[in-house]
Amino acid sequence: MSHIVIEGGRRLEGTLTVQGAKNSVLPILAATILHPGRTVLRGCPHLSDVEASIRILRHLGCEARWEGEALTVDAGVMSRGDVPEHLMREMRSSVIFLGAILARLGWAEMSYPGGCELGPRPIDLHLTALRQLGAELAEEGGALHCSARRLTGREIALSMPSVGATENAILAACGAEGETVLLNAAREPEITDLQDFLCAMGCRVRGAGSSTICILGRRQTRDAVHTVMPDRIAAATYLAAAAAAGGEVELRRINYRHLSTVTAALHEAGCQIAGGEGTLTLRSDGALRSVPTVRTAPYPGFPTDAQAVLMAALLRSQGATVFVENMFENRYRHVDELRRMGADISVADRVAVVTGVPRLCGASVRATDLRGGAALLVAGLAAEGVTRIGDIHHIQRGYEDPVRDLGLLGARITLEEE
Ligand code: EPZ
Repeated sequence: MSHIVIEGGRRLEGTLTVQGAKNSVLPILAATILHPGRTVLRGCPHLSDVEASIRILRHLGCEARWEGEALTVDAGVMSRGDVPEHLMREMRSSVIFLGAILARLGWAEMSYPGGCELGPRPIDLHLTALRQLGAELAEEGGALHCSARRLTGREIALSMPSVGATENAILAACGAEGETVLLNAAREPEITDLQDFLCAMGCRVRGAGSSTICILGRRQTRDAVHTVMPDRIAAATYLAAAAAAGGEVELRRINYRHLSTVTAALHEAGCQIAGGEGTLTLRSDGALRSVPTVRTAPYPGFPTDAQAVLMAALLRSQGATVFVENMFENRYRHVDELRRMGADISVADRVAVVTGVPRLCGASVRATDLRGGAALLVAGLAAEGVTRIGDIHHIQRGYEDPVRDLGLLGARITLEEE
């Protein structure tokens, strides 16, 4: 098993260009099949979840190939509409393909995505939206059989602003006759990036970023080139690392407005933060203080994906910080691993209380999930001594090369391949 090995206690200094956003490129890769031609995604991050999506595209008969930082997809020869279990199991969020396959072919088959490290990942909101557009969906033996002689646009009100359900509804609506109005839609910046990609491809989508999104279906599509937006959660991770270890870090290719709740918390903790045109700078002396209660919420609230890394940054702060995780049932799995490094964290259901300790000690730990693994990187940088992180495949799902990136900022970090 490979490990990431960190010798902590060093300040971070330097400049880093932020990778393309995982949670933007995954729905965009599904959206490429709406066009029977070529699309080019610039700034596409090299992630295992992206490779999993590429395997699904190729299984469906599409061509997908890297040309440096750009990924070119040709969906002109798409020949299948089924996603087999072994590909679904690789990436829980592959349900994102459902709406796009239905829009393109009028039918789709996939195994139920099932739960993941964060707890059950229900897709009831996805299925309700697709049924409202006219799809017939049968769930049998862990498989989803979907057909839609025709999809018809209409008003759809989501019972909660689910990111995935919003994306699936948009993609299916692109294949529906007439207009679809999506109410209570998710407002994440990744939805706006998806809209920008779809419009570049000739689709008519308006309103992303707000709770009401309008889609005019069955438009003539065309070849398109799109640059994937920067990853605001990867950016939050590196800011948390600099806050915890101390230092001065400038991030490039980032819209600082996309992570204003995270920078507000880091500012409360005692960091100096400055946002510029496409840049974000953080200065920290590494001696942080606790912050007011952190409640995760749909965008523009505090992002659940940044909960673990902010927690890791506050492990040595003065005082105690309360976290309330409102988005997922099981998103404190990193706590036991942080405790092995000397953290003082108590958890009761969705509430975690982090009480600052004077020092953290390097230890052998294991990534439990993507963002929990990222939290171990942050804690390892602030700890005295050596931290060895196992099960790093979780981290590689969403971070292109944390060893390269943190090394560029002066961290003593290596990848130990076994
Ligand atoms: C997306 O997941 C992201 N993943 C997640 O990032 C992120 O944490 C989440 O949005 C919230 O921002 C991608 O974009 C690939 P949701 P998604 O539907 O779409 C419940 C990461 O670390 N729900 O907004 O699955 C669901 O169980 C990942 O990068 C239903 O009950 O999130 C969860 O409790 C983790 N029924 C809540 O809603 C449904 O049909 C939010 O889920 C759908 C969701």
